[in-house]
Amino acid sequence: MPHADSSLVPEEIKTKSQFWSHVYMQLEPLLDGQRNWVSNLANASSLIYNALLAFPIHFGPDPKKGVNWCGFYIDSTRFPKSNDSNFVGNRLLLGPFCGKPACQFINVTPGKARGVCADAFMHAKSKLVPDVDSYPGHIACDGDTKSEIVCPLLDGNQVLGVLDLDCLAVSGFDEDDQKGLERIVELIVGACDWY
Ligand code: SME
Repeated sequence: MPHADSSLVPEEIKTKSQFWSHVYMQLEPLLDGQRNWVSNLANASSLIYNALLAFPIHFGPDPKKGVNWCGFYIDSTRFPKSNDSNFVGNRLLLGPFCGKPACQFINVTPGKARGVCADAFMHAKSKLVPDVDSYPGHIACDGDTKSEIVCPLLDGNQVLGVLDLDCLAVSGFDEDDQKGLERIVELIVGACDWY
């Protein structure tokens, strides 16, 4: 099967829980034989983003109200080393994603951190945000985004980064999405070397 076909969603898939199981099963072979986290996160963000766009039941019939961003922010110290002063602790750096350009750094310094990604990272807990405009400190990378979900990448007690999804509709994500994404994130963390 061509790699791109892994993001197709068969017609018999009708519920969100079937959808997320399907995406999980499509992701497993994409990760197989590859442990580089940059490469794996690139394919994972593309698979999730394109599968969501191919599953109109998820957000309703209006294509203008679907997912508009899916990607990763990773602890900057995990990136290949550089002398650049940007590669210091207490910062998340933009990783592989699908969607429009986004902010590159997110401050996760205790006492100074703000935003949905920083909160999910600092508390090591998923954040489901039905209305971004009423979330204190939300960082608006795209003024069209209305709702958001962020899941931390947990490796034992360590938080490696976060998976972030944005939607053009209010209440675009729910607990079924959270469950499905948390399972997917666990698969991704175990499939990569985080040097
Ligand atoms: N909204 C996020 C910032 C990242 S963008 O959505 C891609 C936040 O509040 O942390």
